Amino acid sequence: MTLPQQLETTLASVLTTILGTTSCPVVTPANDLRFGDYQSNAAMVLAKANKMNPRALAEKVIEMWPSDAIATAEIAGPGFINFRIRPEIYAERMRGAVTDARLGVATVPHPRTIVLDFSAPNVAKPMHIGHIRSTILGDSLSRIARFLGHKVITDNHIGDWGTQFGMVTWAWKHVLDEAALLANPLAELLRLYRHASDASKSDEAIREACRLELVKLQQGDAENLAIWTRCLELSKQGLQQIYQRLDVSFDHWLGESAYNEQLAPLVAKLLGGNLARESDGAVCIFSDGSVNDPTKDPFLIRRDGEWTDFPMMIRKSDGGFNYATTDIATLEFRKNEWQAEAVWYVVDHRQSSHFQQLFAVAARLGLDSMDLRHIAFGTILGTDGKPLKTRAGDLPQLADVLDDAVTASRKTVEERSRLETEGERAELAELIGISAVKFTELAHHRLSDYVFDLDKMVALEGDTAPYLFYSFVRSRSIFRKLEEAYQAGDAITLTEDAEIHLARLLSRFAEVVPAVVDDCRPNILTSYLLEVARAFHSFFEACPVLKTEGITRYTRLTLCDVTAKTLEKGLALLGIAVPQRM
Ligand code: ARG
Repeated sequence: MTLPQQLETTLASVLTTILGTTSCPVVTPANDLRFGDYQSNAAMVLAKANKMNPRALAEKVIEMWPSDAIATAEIAGPGFINFRIRPEIYAERMRGAVTDARLGVATVPHPRTIVLDFSAPNVAKPMHIGHIRSTILGDSLSRIARFLGHKVITDNHIGDWGTQFGMVTWAWKHVLDEAALLANPLAELLRLYRHASDASKSDEAIREACRLELVKLQQGDAENLAIWTRCLELSKQGLQQIYQRLDVSFDHWLGESAYNEQLAPLVAKLLGGNLARESDGAVCIFSDGSVNDPTKDPFLIRRDGEWTDFPMMIRKSDGGFNYATTDIATLEFRKNEWQAEAVWYVVDHRQSSHFQQLFAVAARLGLDSMDLRHIAFGTILGTDGKPLKTRAGDLPQLADVLDDAVTASRKTVEERSRLETEGERAELAELIGISAVKFTELAHHRLSDYVFDLDKMVALEGDTAPYLFYSFVRSRSIFRKLEEAYQAGDAITLTEDAEIHLARLLSRFAEVVPAVVDDCRPNILTSYLLEVARAFHSFFEACPVLKTEGITRYTRLTLCDVTAKTLEKGLALLGIAVPQRM
């Protein structure tokens, strides 16, 4: 049990004695540490329900608070109860954490099968900066959910069947450079795509030719299918290299094309069940009128002051199927084949109406027992405050962004690193560059836009990955200077404020990790790790370790050890590995 859970249990039993009824009081971290570690407004909530004076109820609680509880209790204001954890309890927590690979984090009592749909770039258009947020957020959420004991299935639902293939196929047949394709497949495929896309903008005949190539592909034309297969293989290899560099992996790569066969029967089923109907030659799903408030109906939109239909199209008038059709088929598959209990889509916020519609359709199909979430995120901005672009005005390619980050971190390494060999320095620069991109992404609230400022991201000072690396290395370095043998897990005693504060924060790891998954917000963990690092440096300055002896020395070594382990584990849950030296 976490400390607040323990407090809730004690508080509940005290309240039952006083009120004669059971209740579920809530204990939260205190807003102001001067008054305590945790607090509860239970007395105020329950006084109202029991027609009592809140302060009188709180006073009763304090009076009956057991003297052997893990915390002392005090009344504050109109009836808040503040709790201060006894230092011995923190000392016990540290003693437990230091030899526990989970650092006190419990597994969930009811594990679920969660499908995480993330990254999902569109093939033959290389992965661009827009996919970075999905890739990094999704990877971190999958690591955390797994660590908590859930059965997580990661699926890279790549866009491998869209209109871009018409263009790529047309360009492949006309301007392919085989040598370039072998040398750098992603770059050549991108060139083909851009060539066709530019040409079809100015030339009606080319646009039509591209469209026909797509139709041929979708009808199973052998030559076009062969080109498509080759494109797909090359693209996947190129993507795989980026994922390797990012240390991201997937259990499945079931792209859009995997569902081709299911689409026609699905549309027939929806038509047959009156869930969809024809409209101007296309097949669409409309509002079923079950939502009373039009602002909450995903199939309505306000135009010129009136609510009009905003249907979800599942078959185009030319017979082709849509992104939405595939997503419905995919959801059915995940439910039926994988017994998914939750499906979380880590996708740009601009697709929110698509997901609202998808989830509404899921409900009509009886798939709504699943926990379906659109884990939306905002935009990455350049230092000019506008969406990040290359100098040529294109969306930056992810691989280039990673290279730039490594180049920037090279400077930090040259100026600050104590590593001697060129090999070690290059390795550290790569680690810092990639980690800085990941950490910056995860440190922002996912729904807010953020500025991509490489120099800030790789700096040793600030709320950065390198700052946490430095804190980790510092907390570990003390053990290299140690002459005696150190064995973790013996009793410690906390006396100094800086020791107690560090222990207080370290013991909260058990509360923070589960909280990340509640709202799918890794930035809760990044803020926490930064707070731990700051507390560690204050402690390290205030409390000498090697100049002391006995239990004081052992206590401080234990705190360094738990700090190092917490930073290392916390970063690992974000998908970031720590360097052993810097
Ligand atoms: N390929 C899509 C895009 O790049 C994202 C797919 C997200 N996943 C899904 N099941 N719709 O916009």
